[in-house]
Amino acid sequence: MRKVFTPITFLLLVGIFFTNGAMCQKQSIIHPGELWPDNNGNHIQAHGGGIIKFGKTYYWYGECRRQGLDTAYRYVSCYSSKDLVNWTSRGDVVKMHDPENLGRRWILERPKVYYNEPTKKFVMYFHEDNAGYKVARVGIAVSDKPDGNFTFVKSFRPLGHESRDIGQFIDDDGTAYLIFEDRPYGFRIAKLSADYMSLEKEMCLIPQHMEGGALVHYHGLYYAIGSSLTGWSPNPNKYATAKSLEGPWSEFQDIAPPATKTYGSQSTMLIKVTGTKGTSVIFMGDIWKPRTQWDSRYLWMPLKIGDGKLWLPEPQPFTLNVKTG
Ligand code: GAL
Repeated sequence: MRKVFTPITFLLLVGIFFTNGAMCQKQSIIHPGELWPDNNGNHIQAHGGGIIKFGKTYYWYGECRRQGLDTAYRYVSCYSSKDLVNWTSRGDVVKMHDPENLGRRWILERPKVYYNEPTKKFVMYFHEDNAGYKVARVGIAVSDKPDGNFTFVKSFRPLGHESRDIGQFIDDDGTAYLIFEDRPYGFRIAKLSADYMSLEKEMCLIPQHMEGGALVHYHGLYYAIGSSLTGWSPNPNKYATAKSLEGPWSEFQDIAPPATKTYGSQSTMLIKVTGTKGTSVIFMGDIWKPRTQWDSRYLWMPLKIGDGKLWLPEPQPFTLNVKTG
């Protein structure tokens, strides 16, 4: 009989065991700016993303810029997690081919998903544009399940305004808002209609040129953050506060030392985590790598926030406990 279990086979088996083990190992620390492996060991592809909590599960949606994608399509990926640290890939929930004939280089960016209780639909908003960013509309796609598939429904200019970067905000009372950049005026916050399929009411226009707009409601104050308009290059992101979404909004101030350009990142969302011991607000930003988009990183970091002040500390690895906050 041939001997099959040689020392080399043994070493190979040990190797496979450890590689698999590393891939499935539970992570407890978030490393801002580093590769962030999903449950399969692949770097998470959820750029310009947004997160919703449905039941006890968080869903993270974002632009999928994996290598080797079919360039005729745009892709949105979805990940699920119970702890905001360990993410399970739920696949591509959008694989869309130019739904409105905007051309081969059409744009689908910054997808944000809301769950609409009355219709039981998951409603995705995204920035829909042509290659020159001249169309400036939001697109909507819907799904019955959080992990797709989302199918295209329509696009429009929100309340008649231009809309490029979009952000998502759900207030503590459950009311859903869209934040959108309306050049050359600034950025607007608008309330979604009852079925989330359109926008019902403009809350305010903040006359500041800002992309990557995000909001959080913390201890009775609204904090709005965003970046300047420098494309993929980072810039000093800023914040302002207001007692109500209608304003008046304070002057904008830096969220980090301006020379660091937000530590090389751009805002996409603020996540509020309320637990038994307190509430943390996490800054969620993208570190874009325009030439190797698949390698773009995430800068998540708990903010120092309160009494009208907001500050993004120098990034360093941190642990996040969604139970205690
Ligand atoms: C950024 C924007 C991104 C993308 C990029 C293209 O300013 O935030 O979502 O549109 O420009 O250059």
